Amino acid sequence: SELLRVGIAGLGTVGAAVARLLHRQAEALTARTGRRIVVAGVSARDAEKKRDADLSGAEFFHDPVKLAASPAIDLFVELIGGSEGPARASVETALAHGKPVVTANKALLAAHGLHLATLAEERHAALAFEASVAGGIPIVKTLREGLAGNSIERVYGILNGTCNYILSRMEQEQLSFEECLKEAQRLGYAEADPTFDIGGFDTAHKLAILTSLAFGARIDASAIDIEGIERVSLADIDAAAELGYRIKLLGVAQRTADGVEQRVHPTMVSKHSAIAQVMGVLNAVTIDADAVHELTLVGPGAGGDATASAVVADIADIARGVRSAPFGLPSVKLAELKRTPMRRHEGG
Ligand code: NAP
Ligand code: HSE
Repeated sequence: SELLRVGIAGLGTVGAAVARLLHRQAEALTARTGRRIVVAGVSARDAEKKRDADLSGAEFFHDPVKLAASPAIDLFVELIGGSEGPARASVETALAHGKPVVTANKALLAAHGLHLATLAEERHAALAFEASVAGGIPIVKTLREGLAGNSIERVYGILNGTCNYILSRMEQEQLSFEECLKEAQRLGYAEADPTFDIGGFDTAHKLAILTSLAFGARIDASAIDIEGIERVSLADIDAAAELGYRIKLLGVAQRTADGVEQRVHPTMVSKHSAIAQVMGVLNAVTIDADAVHELTLVGPGAGGDATASAVVADIADIARGVRSAPFGLPSVKLAELKRTPMRRHEGG
């Protein structure tokens, strides 16, 4: 079978897990795609660091941009992170060379999604990002393909594993916010700068991507009112529990008369609701749509293996020759929003 030579930039929690998964599933992936997928090149900051993956046979590049441009790779996987710097430069380089790109980088897509999608279209290159929203949950495929026959009214859910892990552990173990955050970092769930998680910005980046896919609106995280969980205390969690509620950080996008409204904030949800049962690093996404009515997907929202599952699904699609248009044409208006206080959730 024909070779597909993959270059992986970033060998941290997700990058190393992708290399491991490609290795472990090599035979099955060849059977499913008709291609033999090999890691031909890698890039990271530290060439000497021991990686939890067998990278023998892969050429090391100190510069991810050089890896992206290298004739030794057919597909570029960006797992560095950040909306600018080497992540942006390497993705742009790969697309400019007409190479398909797979990324888990929601910060990059929220900031430059339309520009990158345009570049990808111009060069007839795939730009795939299943792993950028809700970790291992195949939400991009679900919205784009599974629900193609629906008109979507609302998409909402728990989109950040770190925050849900922190809120869950605080309640269940009566631990402090700081202890839970440290544990989420140790487990590889948190962003390099965890302010993105606890400040609600990571949820907003993911919501902006979902809004674009679900409603055909432009990707615009700056149109989102954002409140994080930094000020949620153990006392708040216990007080909510006494009243029969749990506090969850939700991202919500819904059609309104003024356009699609997007918001991110801690929300009191009834302990008996389905969304309140989503604990730990799990994420949940609920879609209200005209034909399917209501659909909820629950699964691991962060972590190396779960995220690698989504990255490898994109690699497999590209190996099979699938090239989905990255985002819909931005045809639907986004609403401006006022700040929202903590509230009870109407649905779920
Ligand atoms: P990470 O563990 O911090 O790994 C980042 C990797 O990028 C490291 O291997 C680092 O090299 C490399 N790197 C940093 N700057 C570089 C540069 N200038 N040139 C080359 N390599 C460079 O991050 P991660 O958790 O794997 O996340 C990677 C991406 O996936 C981010 O966009 C993140 O938002 C996204 N994501 C993460 C998760 C998760 O659960 N962790 C889930 C979904 C999406 P060194 O190892 O040598 O320092
Ligand atoms: N830091 C992110 C989270 C990683 O905790 O959800 C997954 O995108």
